[in-house]
Amino acid sequence: MNLQNKVRIIEFPKICDPRGNLSFVEGGRHVPFPIRRVFFIYDVPGGETRGGHAHRTCQEVVTAVSGSFDLIITDGREQVLVHMNRANMGVLVPAGAWITMPNFTTGTVLMCIASEEYEEEDYIRDYDEYLRYVQALPEGERPVVAL
Ligand code: TYD
Repeated sequence: MNLQNKVRIIEFPKICDPRGNLSFVEGGRHVPFPIRRVFFIYDVPGGETRGGHAHRTCQEVVTAVSGSFDLIITDGREQVLVHMNRANMGVLVPAGAWITMPNFTTGTVLMCIASEEYEEEDYIRDYDEYLRYVQALPEGERPVVAL
């Protein structure tokens, strides 16, 4: 099985300190790809939902740096839900997986580490189009949605 195609939980190093904890992420070591981009989602109204798309080639590692939300990942057949509320935990979202992130609490900061620079053409934002796309992928290239 191609591990890069599989959803998985990643623990980041955590340096505990009475002055406050520190975590860090190195590309190719803590995430399985060279890091091309990092983006943040913040000032999200409580109860809001983000996401609602898939990427054709971009892999992402999603973390709740502060606050919480739910990360729902599907390939149209299987679905996993991870409650995101730890700054030292990331979830690898493989290319070709559809994500939705409901239930943001007020003040949440989501950090996403991505394998590619931003490219709108890499997105699939229509769920019916997504289902056609993912069903046409060769079995070995499908995202593996399981934990
Ligand atoms: P989008 O990825 O749809 O947000 P969500 O995290 O909810 O899935 O991005 C929202 C908007 O921001 C969209 O117009 C594209 C733009 N955007 C960029 O310009 N650069 C980026 O790196 C990202 C992630 C989004």
